[in-house]
Amino acid sequence: MEFKKSLNLELLVALLLNLHGVEQPRNPWSDGPEYIAQCPIKPGANFSYDIIFSEEEGTLWWHAHSDWSRATVHGPIIVYPKAGTTYPFPKPDAEFPIVLASWFKGDVMEIIQEALISGDEPNKSDALTINGQPGDLYNCSKRGTFKILFDYGKTYLLRVINSIMNEEMFFMVAGHKLTVVGMDGAYIKPLKTSYILITPGQVMDILVTANRRRSHYYMAARASEGVVYDNTTTTAIIQYSGNYTIPSTPKFPNLPNYTDIDAVTNFVRRIKALASKEHPIDVPKKVDTRLFITIAVGTLPCATNGSCTGPNGNKLAGSLNNASFENPKIDVLQAYYKKIHGIFTTDFPDKPPNVFNFTSDELSDDVVTPTAGTKVKVLKYNASVEIVFQGTNVFSAAENHPMHLHVGVPKNGWSAIRFKADNPGVWFMHCHLERHSSWGMDTVLIVRDGPTSATSIRKPPSYLNPC
Ligand SMILES: *[C@@H]1O[C@H](CO)[C@@H](O)[C@H](O)[C@H]1NC(C)=O
Ligand SMILES: *[C@@H]1O[C@H](CO)[C@@H](O)[C@H](O)[C@H]1NC(C)=O
Ligand SMILES: *[C@@H]1O[C@H](CO)[C@@H](O)[C@H](O)[C@H]1NC(C)=O
Ligand SMILES: *[C@@H]1O[C@H](CO)[C@@H](O)[C@H](O)[C@H]1NC(C)=O
Ligand SMILES: *[C@@H]1O[C@H](CO)[C@@H](O)[C@H](O)[C@H]1NC(C)=O
Ligand SMILES: *[C@@H]1O[C@H](CO)[C@@H](O)[C@H](O)[C@H]1NC(C)=O
Ligand SMILES: *[C@@H]1O[C@H](CO)[C@@H](O)[C@H](O)[C@H]1NC(C)=O
Ligand SMILES: *[C@@H]1O[C@H](CO)[C@@H](O)[C@H](O)[C@H]1NC(C)=O
Ligand SMILES: *[C@@H]1O[C@H](CO)[C@@H](O)[C@H](O)[C@H]1NC(C)=O
Ligand SMILES: *[C@@H]1O[C@H](CO)[C@@H](O)[C@H](O)[C@H]1NC(C)=O
Repeated sequence: MEFKKSLNLELLVALLLNLHGVEQPRNPWSDGPEYIAQCPIKPGANFSYDIIFSEEEGTLWWHAHSDWSRATVHGPIIVYPKAGTTYPFPKPDAEFPIVLASWFKGDVMEIIQEALISGDEPNKSDALTINGQPGDLYNCSKRGTFKILFDYGKTYLLRVINSIMNEEMFFMVAGHKLTVVGMDGAYIKPLKTSYILITPGQVMDILVTANRRRSHYYMAARASEGVVYDNTTTTAIIQYSGNYTIPSTPKFPNLPNYTDIDAVTNFVRRIKALASKEHPIDVPKKVDTRLFITIAVGTLPCATNGSCTGPNGNKLAGSLNNASFENPKIDVLQAYYKKIHGIFTTDFPDKPPNVFNFTSDELSDDVVTPTAGTKVKVLKYNASVEIVFQGTNVFSAAENHPMHLHVGVPKNGWSAIRFKADNPGVWFMHCHLERHSSWGMDTVLIVRDGPTSATSIRKPPSYLNPC
């Protein structure tokens, strides 16, 4: 991959390493997020990413990670079973990547800059797309609607990637059952369902068998509600081969309502790791490092002195444990590796500094203002880590938060994860709702080197982009 413009890639394999074994082992240099793993690649400059595949299998993806550039540059990465091995399910007859994305009429970089200055919500997207096309429900796109061909009796693998900026999505195929067999580069126990809920950053591998009457069927996706969200519906069409009367309009799926929280919960709670002999999991049973992290959207004082159009003249601010992340001047990785002081502090709290009724409907104003800074959490090599994420109702702005360790934290709910910190490096942890991340709902996990060179960060590449 070669990029000539100002882009940084975030390879979504990178943080999965903590969940699925060794991925981008010891190589944070090619992880991508700007000001975390590297400085921005200026227009005309270049940077070569060194991507080390190890245990991943299934669908991954890559995207630009500089401000809101993810909206424009992204794509699938497919890792097939190793030679001599096969899928833990019947081999599909064919496969299609299905990339969900956001379409903005305005310049996305201006949209986020405008919002960060005003302190208010950024403009919503104007459309959502499937493989680059919004679909028949938008006037602009009728001829271009993405179509795939089904032969009766065959089974297809849809590799669905949610690259959408700010919406968690329901996705369905009219008339057809879905069997989810993989997520984020790992297999899961086959999950039969009529719809999926896929959060930004996530990937799901789905089997669909062409066993319905030969006709045309819509696949469609729309949001599960957020505080502010694009409520349009994107579609693509499945056309069966053969001789039949083409319907005037394809059959449309009965998508869950925007507000249907039960549909979200009922799907998410059924996801289970495959945990077979060939694809084992290794969740630490003993934990030595515990983090309890509250997630909130509040406000910080306006930089331009009361002229913000966010709540009460302030600017919106995301936070984790009351710490709102500020981008440093030099990337955290370089500062850590070269021991440059004054770039970040290591005081990211292990628990919320104040305990309050996190999900109360009547929270007082004194929980609204976080502390701004570049706070990171340092983990010992090989630590067994447990993180409990707790959603909060600060500002009555409770929302689902797809935290980028690929775990969805439900609205006013919680999620717990465990992993072994066996990949030394500097890893960005953030909400994958892009506006939340832009507001500071981020932190960095630094995993220290182990005792040997084989358990330490690799040497930096010969060329690093200057800051
Ligand atoms: C990439 O940048 C390096 C360092 O500036 C330079 O030596 C090299 O020629 C560039 N390569 C391309 C393809 O532009
Ligand atoms: C955002 O939306 C507002 C209101 O519709 C519009 O005036 C503004 O130009 C938009 N910003 C960008 C960068 O497109
Ligand atoms: C789409 O086109 C139809 C028919 O021309 C029109 O009635 C409708 O208002 C248009 N919708 C939008 C969103 O422009
Ligand atoms: C979508 O949101 C717009 C406001 O942005 C609203 O006017 C419209 O009724 C909403 N549509 C649906 C189907 O909820
Ligand atoms: C398609 O089906 C129609 C009606 O059954 C038949 O008249 C026609 O010959 C068929 N066409 C082909 C190419 O088989
Ligand atoms: C979904 O919303 C529609 C109206 O928008 C309503 O008619 C329907 O009953 C709702 N379905 C459920 C299951 O709540
Ligand atoms: C901010 O506003 C206050 C009162 O309106 C004024 O005293 C102060 O000088 C302003 N500060 C800046 C940096 O503009
Ligand atoms: C916390 O808030 C919730 C929601 O308002 C309420 O049901 C619960 O009773 C509160 N708990 C305590 C301990 O005050
Ligand atoms: C967050 O930090 C600010 C600044 O230190 C403090 O005033 C506030 O009470 C803290 N809020 C919570 C909920 O811990
Ligand atoms: C890390 O932990 C594993 C067991 O989980 C152990 O086999 C290994 O020796 C440990 N490595 C170091 C350097 O502590």
